[in-house]
Amino acid sequence: MNKHKKILCIGAGYVGGPTMAMIACKCPQYTVTVVDINPERIAGWNSDSLPIYEPGLHDVVKCARGRNLFFSTEIEKGIQEADIIFVSVNTPTKSFGAGAGMAADLQYWEKTARQIRDCSQSPKIIVEKSTLPVKTALAMKRILTAGDKKKQFEVLSNPEFLAEGTAIQDLENPDRVLIGSDETPAGMKARKELVKIYANWVPEEKIITTNLWSSELSKLVSNAFLAQKISSINAISALCEKTDADVTEVARAVGMDSRLGSRFLNASVGFGGSCFKKDILNLVYLCRYYGLEPVADYWEGVIRINDFQKERFVLNMLNTMFNTLAGKKICLLGFAFKADTGDTRESPGIFISRKLAEEKARLIISDPQALENAKHDLKDCAGDIHYEKDPYAAAEGCDAVAVITEWKIYSELDYERIFSSMIKPAFVFDGRNILDHSRLFDIGFNVFPIGKPPLTHFEEYV
Ligand code: UDX
Ligand code: ADP
Repeated sequence: MNKHKKILCIGAGYVGGPTMAMIACKCPQYTVTVVDINPERIAGWNSDSLPIYEPGLHDVVKCARGRNLFFSTEIEKGIQEADIIFVSVNTPTKSFGAGAGMAADLQYWEKTARQIRDCSQSPKIIVEKSTLPVKTALAMKRILTAGDKKKQFEVLSNPEFLAEGTAIQDLENPDRVLIGSDETPAGMKARKELVKIYANWVPEEKIITTNLWSSELSKLVSNAFLAQKISSINAISALCEKTDADVTEVARAVGMDSRLGSRFLNASVGFGGSCFKKDILNLVYLCRYYGLEPVADYWEGVIRINDFQKERFVLNMLNTMFNTLAGKKICLLGFAFKADTGDTRESPGIFISRKLAEEKARLIISDPQALENAKHDLKDCAGDIHYEKDPYAAAEGCDAVAVITEWKIYSELDYERIFSSMIKPAFVFDGRNILDHSRLFDIGFNVFPIGKPPLTHFEEYV
């Protein structure tokens, strides 16, 4: 009889936690242990208040926790016992030395590779889950096989394509699962082991296998293409604001071309999140390394447009509010990088808050899930910044309200009540185009959407 394997995941974050919970839930025959160096994170995963907010996650965790899903800080023990080890430690952009601001910071990842090598006493399959630069699997292999004892490791790349806020849906019903391996007999055998796990709930035709480099590169390219789509529509939103075009109408017309598709064409205040910027920078770094300057410049343009979009949003607020924000009270509705998550990594809210604080505006930041992270992100930001979960209390006495995150609740607020509690003239800057602009105008607001003509009560608006 086939002995069922033990799975370990190193790193209990946004990727490791939900992914392992889904595997454990769908595959009761495997024992899945998730370890992390951060004891608070592990305590959170073992409690009723999970360390990350993700719709549906709690039910999936409850389905398997204590049965075949365990969260622990005993990393070495976990490594010794495991047959298959997923590595999903964080790989932020380097903030120092060569490649600073561009290349991935691989220190956590390399520590993990060495720890796996030093604690292992039996052959293991190592699965790269973190987003990593291409050829990292090779480096992993070199670290693992360096040393006196020849230990058997096969390294696989299995990039995660889940998006936060929809992680559970994405894991349960993925567009595809990608598995890269060496195309040697041992590599192919390891590849099969991983396919076998996903085949418990993912149709086989959606599980695609490639060589290691294709798999690693596909992750970067998928994110670069998605981000490029947003930067493309955001670039056009700037042009729409200068002409009489409406970006929503343009996006609709463009998106109905089935070759382009209608998703990811929502003009916004800019994209955020832990992946897009980091992955594009990785791609740019890789291209420059290989001397492909025009290719590097091309992809870097996607980031430049995103920075431009965030900057433009603040400048528009400044210009519109009579070229001074000093002492004015501005309410930010939302701080998370997107709706349905408390994650604020690379959120446009961070840049916007800092810029507004530089202009000496008084900020009231509201968000249903992200206020603790917001406080952390802005802890070194000198300025008059307050945090208030209740959107009505946050908007009271403000000169302007700016929507940063597309939380559904913000489109359902009582804007008459908000208007009556604000300083006049009252401004709305809708950084997500989720509000009913003509209704807000009728209430009395001066309304500034993204990529659409503003609706103002001023006699002349230029
Ligand atoms: C992304 C990829 O979608 C996912 O496949 C990968 O595994 C990780 O990176 P995520 O960062 O969680 O996922 O969120 P995503 O839904 O892609 O949104 C990223 C950013 O783009 C958010 O700030 C979002 O608000 C913004 N966005 C998205 C837009 O501004 N407009 C759009 O039309 C879509
Ligand atoms: P991601 O979005 O990629 O999942 P997170 O930052 O949410 O990134 O999660 C990464 C997790 O990896 C964190 O909880 C961090 O404590 C953990 N981690 C980092 N280095 C190590 C390590 N050497 N051993 C175990 N866990 C680690």
